[in-house]
Order: sequence, then C-alpha cells, then structure tokens
Amino acid sequence: MNLHEHLASAEAAIQAVKTLGDLNELETKLLGRNSPVGEARRQLGKLDPGDRPAAGVEVNRVTAELNRLIAERRGELTRVEENLLLADDSVDVTVERWTLSQGTEHLVQQTIDEVCDIFIGLGYRVEQGPEAELAWFNFDALNTPPHHPSRFESDTLYLDFGDPADEVLLRTHTSPMQVRYMQSHKPPLYVVVPGKTFRSDTIDASHLPVFHQIEGLAVDSGIVFSDLKGTLAHFAREFFGREQRVRLRPSFFPFTEPSAELDVSCFVCGGASASCRLCGGSGWLEMAGCGMVDPNVLDMAGHDSQTLSGFAFGMGVERLAMVRHGISNIRVFIDNDLRALRQFR
Ligand code: DAH
Repeated sequence: MNLHEHLASAEAAIQAVKTLGDLNELETKLLGRNSPVGEARRQLGKLDPGDRPAAGVEVNRVTAELNRLIAERRGELTRVEENLLLADDSVDVTVERWTLSQGTEHLVQQTIDEVCDIFIGLGYRVEQGPEAELAWFNFDALNTPPHHPSRFESDTLYLDFGDPADEVLLRTHTSPMQVRYMQSHKPPLYVVVPGKTFRSDTIDASHLPVFHQIEGLAVDSGIVFSDLKGTLAHFAREFFGREQRVRLRPSFFPFTEPSAELDVSCFVCGGASASCRLCGGSGWLEMAGCGMVDPNVLDMAGHDSQTLSGFAFGMGVERLAMVRHGISNIRVFIDNDLRALRQFR
C-alpha cells in the first residue's frame, strides 16, 4: 500500500471510530512500528540517497496529517463522552424535592423508657407480660373475687367468656404480671413491667380503651411500708423534679393491704394557687395506685407470706406524660397529629 492510499483509507477509519478507546487502538495501527508509515520510515535507509529527501518529506507529511486527523477526532469524541456523562449526572432542578423526615419515638414510649431507667437505677429488672391474659391472673390470683364489679362483661374485654376456669381477656391492668413474675422467680424480686392495658371505656378527654401502665413489684424479706414511700418519692423527684413532695392517701385495691394512692405535689403552683390549671387548687396530683402486697397474693403465687413481704404500684403512662407536659386531652396520644408529636423530639 502506498502512503497516499494509506492516508485515504485511514481518514475513513478515523471518522468511523465511535469511542476514545477504539481511537487509541486505531492510532497504534495507523502510526505504530508495524503500520505502513512505520514500514515506510524503516525503508528510508534502503533507498537511493537521491530519493531519500523526497520520500522522507512524504513520510513526515502523512504522519503529520494522520496525527492531525486523530487529534481532531479525539477532540470530538471527548466532547461526546463528556456530554454523555453530564446527561447521566444531570439534576432536574424543577423536580420537587422530597425528603424523608426523621421520626421520633412516641411520647408514650419515651415516658416508659424514662420511668424504666429510673427503676433500673434502683436495681429493678424490666419485664413484659401477655396482653391476652387468663382471668385467673388478671383477677383471681390478685384476690379479686368473682362478684367484683371490674369483672363484669361490661367493664372488661373478654376474648373467651363464660367458663370461669379458662376465661381469657385483654388484661385490664399490668398487675397480673406480679403473679406471673412471682411464680417464675425466686425472691428477692425487684421488677417493673410496662405494657398495654385494655378496658371497655368510651374515649373522652381522660379515657382511652387502650392505654399503658407500668407495674412495679418488690418482694424481699423485711420490706415495710416506708420502703414503698421512699421508692416512690425517689421516682417522683427524678421524674418531676427535685422539689416534689409525695403523699400517700389511703385507698383500696383487692391485691394490696394496706392500699394507697400516690399524690405528687403540684409542680405548677406548688399548692399555692386556688385556680391552678393543673391541680385545680388542691396542690396535689394523683399519680399511682400502690400498697403492700396482700399476703393472700404472695401465698397464691407460691411464696411464704410469713417470711416475705413486698410492695407494688401501678401507674398510668399517659397520665404521667400528661401531667409532666401539661397535656389536657388524652386523645393527643392517638390522634397522630404531627404538630403535637413533634413537640416531644
Ligand atoms: N392495677 C391497678 C389499676 O389498674 C393499679 C394498682 C394499684 C397497681 C395498686 C398496683 C397496686 O400494683 O399495688 O387500677
């Protein structure tokens, strides 16, 4: 092939190449040692001295022309590949930006965690119990006789009703876990049990048919009433603030004897304002039911009430959060209104 023909076919080949990679390969074929130009350059020495200058000029001319064509094509292909890259990477700024907003734990869960942490600090364990419960654990084992009004079908959501031996219900409180825990563990027992509870209540500003409680139980030798008071006072100060005072008001629960309600001094008015929006002027906020575990309950759970004693308490989680944050309607917990929930990040 003479150089003239080589240049002509090379020009077509250079134009036909579609990628920079292919162009690099072609460049070697057209200008490398074994290319027609390379061959012609090697032959120069064998020519008659008189013919060499003209042949040398021709080899250089073709080489220069090939280099020019290749450089030109390389420029074109570089621009094409850059444009492809840009097109791939392009951002359509007219598309509406969509971001995944960061969620948070629900205030009920935050409250449960905070209360449990306080008791963990006192050496308590945290346990969970079944939401569908045998009536025996929910009532009988807690010293609550068959004629007790809380057992009525109108008050309790039964899954299985009629045969007293195996009635199943949605637990009305977390207290049945007192019995379950006592049955399966050896004293000393120090445990808190957070969880859902269910009652046949109509929704209003302070009632939900599904709500949360945290049960507490301590069983050991030599536990006395002041242990209960000291424990709950510590809890109230940790949860509501250092200055809070507590009082225990006599009450009744079938499974504790004596029984009491725990009141916390109002942290808005401290008892100083007759028109306080939180306590209504009484100076006290009702927080929990509590008492000394009834010896019958200890015995029914298989422990010796002669040598052991204990206390128990149960608090409503929504109530704790409402009092603490000044929430006046319990529906806030189930409405899923982000404007409300976002305030508790
Ligand atoms: N279970 C009771 C309720 O739901 C609350 C309660 C009262 C729990 C006294 C206790 C207790 O552990 O000792 O109303």
